Amino acid sequence: MAKLSLEKRFAVVEPNDDESAVERLDYLTKIVTEFEEHLAERASHYLGYPSNQNCKHFVGLSQLLQFNINNCGDPFTEGDLGMHTKKFEVGVLDWFAKLWEIEKDEYLGYVTNGGTEGNLHGILLGRELLPNGVLYTSQESHYSLFKIARMYRMDCETISSLATGEMDYADLKRKLLIHKDRPAIINVIVGTTFKGALDDLDIVIETLEDCGFSQNQFYIHCDAAMFGFITPFLNQVPKYTFKKPIGSMSVSGHKFMGTPMPCGVQITRKSRVNSISQSIEYISSLDNTIAGSRNGHSSMFLWYGLNIKGLKGLQKDFEECLRNARYLRDCLKDAGISTMLNEMSNVVIFERPPDHEFVRHWQLQCLRKMAHIVIMPHVSIEMLDKFLHNLIKKRGIWYESGKVEPPCLAEDIGICNCACSLHAKG
Ligand SMILES: Cc1ncc(COP(=O)(O)O)c(C=O)c1O
Repeated sequence: MAKLSLEKRFAVVEPNDDESAVERLDYLTKIVTEFEEHLAERASHYLGYPSNQNCKHFVGLSQLLQFNINNCGDPFTEGDLGMHTKKFEVGVLDWFAKLWEIEKDEYLGYVTNGGTEGNLHGILLGRELLPNGVLYTSQESHYSLFKIARMYRMDCETISSLATGEMDYADLKRKLLIHKDRPAIINVIVGTTFKGALDDLDIVIETLEDCGFSQNQFYIHCDAAMFGFITPFLNQVPKYTFKKPIGSMSVSGHKFMGTPMPCGVQITRKSRVNSISQSIEYISSLDNTIAGSRNGHSSMFLWYGLNIKGLKGLQKDFEECLRNARYLRDCLKDAGISTMLNEMSNVVIFERPPDHEFVRHWQLQCLRKMAHIVIMPHVSIEMLDKFLHNLIKKRGIWYESGKVEPPCLAEDIGICNCACSLHAKG
């Protein structure tokens, strides 16, 4: 068979009448193998996005790809459909319920399509419980929060944040007092998207109490997309737990755990879900999720990943990520580059490179004058050394003439972390 041009390879090409099924499969396998090589190369330069690329062990589940699996409806109601993984899903949910400290008979939850769906579900429960509530979420929130406010037509107050990325509690207080005659629905971020900061749940609850909000006048959703697997290991940071008056908490499965497909987990109090739960006769289950059909494979992948790693394995991975993040921060500092790393975070902020090709090569995420690297378990010291070598060499070219200077990051990460020509001397 003649070799097709690259563009044609991505197109869906109708099978030829004179081509055998075997020839067709051989040809497709060749394209997939080439694409696999491309992905392997990209994974070895994957620094800026919060996904763990150490996924090889999940190949152990490949035999399940021969089945079409759907966990439609409530995970706790198996229904008549047999092609599901709900028993494994409940195993995963029980693991998270234990981690986030809620009794088995007090929680409901499900495996979602990712952190965004967890937020959609959590804020919906808050809105159903407190229909006149105002949504409060910090300016560092993931974009899904602002989209959710628009989708649900909710009044939304954006709370300013500190240079670290953490919510500014004084601003929260000011805004709560402006709307003190209306209930509050608060999104607490457990690992902000860009700076990896932690909103302090205890201070948020204290602020609500100070402003005169009783527990039936507020609902808290914890967006733990990034750190949901991790925060319970840390005693230096406020504990995110259902022992405190929160309504729901969600995490992404593809981020720290590195499931090969996007997924997540949402846990909420049973009492909260009743408001949205409806019995649907023809699926012989309850509808209490955002999606209808739900990916049955992702429950298996989470179950498999948790069984392989266990809590201790996740803790070990995270400690290594923290060590590598501090290594990168120190090397950047030593090279005279503006940088910031929050105390218990794996997200290193530094100056935005002025070269799009470089950004694409290392797959960095950029915002205003900043770029960040998310140290996930696949990011080794060797990879960081290659990156640093490349960055320092390129900076010599970008800033050689002296006409263009490295950006000032004082406003974004604080004067003490800024190494621009104005602040380095100070
Ligand atoms: C804090 C936070 N919340 C929610 C999300 C959305 O998660 P997902 O991409 O799994 O939908 C992200 C993604 O980066 C995030 O950082």
